[in-house]
Amino acid sequence: MRTHRKCTMAKIGILGAGNIGKQIARLAATHGHHVLLSNSRGPQNLPFDIILELGQNVTRSTAQETVAESDLLVVAIPLANYTQIPQPPAGKIVIDAGNYYPDRDGLIPELEEERTTTSELLQTHLPQARVVKAFNHIPALALTADAQPPGSQNRRALIVAGDDPEARMTVATLVDEFGFDPLDIGQLAEGWRVERGTPGYLPRFTKTELTHKVHEAKRYRTH
Ligand SMILES: NC(=O)c1ccc[n+]([C@@H]2O[C@H](COP(=O)([O-])OP(=O)(O)OC[C@H]3O[C@@H](n4cnc5c(N)ncnc54)[C@H](OP(=O)(O)O)[C@@H]3O)[C@@H](O)[C@H]2O)c1
Repeated sequence: MRTHRKCTMAKIGILGAGNIGKQIARLAATHGHHVLLSNSRGPQNLPFDIILELGQNVTRSTAQETVAESDLLVVAIPLANYTQIPQPPAGKIVIDAGNYYPDRDGLIPELEEERTTTSELLQTHLPQARVVKAFNHIPALALTADAQPPGSQNRRALIVAGDDPEARMTVATLVDEFGFDPLDIGQLAEGWRVERGTPGYLPRFTKTELTHKVHEAKRYRTH
């Protein structure tokens, strides 16, 4: 999927102002989007570096405001907290950048038993939203370090997965705009192919390479 268009979502809301949330905020502001940034402890406790850096391009928000007022929402919080996310208006596109780390998140039986995927858990919690998995399999710093303009040779690729084709296309456009070749891997249920421990998780791959890694991924339990 090559889009080379600009994502029309003006206000990008980001839940989480840590490693990944700050990097997505930088990319969004660089590409002319306004950022609503929030954390768990309230706007007064947002990291000052990113607020200063983004200046007029960022609004310090509560999680509730971010969810309600953004055109598109990015979830960049530890998986353990996903049930704390307020319900967005019906149809909102919600990008899930999260991963499952049992040491950090606690044991989640459905994931341990490979009965679901992290983004399907989020979709179940937000039934009216259109969840798209993206930006989960790249180290946060590489989001700015590896970004290249569309058409660059050997450009890094990142997957998109989601149950709503239009939402997937919108997020693919954003991935392209931010500096990466989008690789559409289909529905949320395919998201396990780029979760922790799979060949496509973390290293830099072009679209052709990532396509192979996604197909090489294996689940260890029998279904
Ligand atoms: N780090 C990476 O390189 C990377 C790359 C790809 C994907 N990811 C995934 O992205 C997620 C976040 O990782 P991270 O490294 O960015 O974490 P982090 O640096 O620990 O930051 C977590 C952020 O989430 C906020 N938060 C926690 N619960 C919240 C809630 N209920 N509502 C709003 N904000 C909340 C925290 O706010 P407070 O500080 O106020 O609690 C903090 O700003 C994880 O699932 C991780 O696996 C990380």
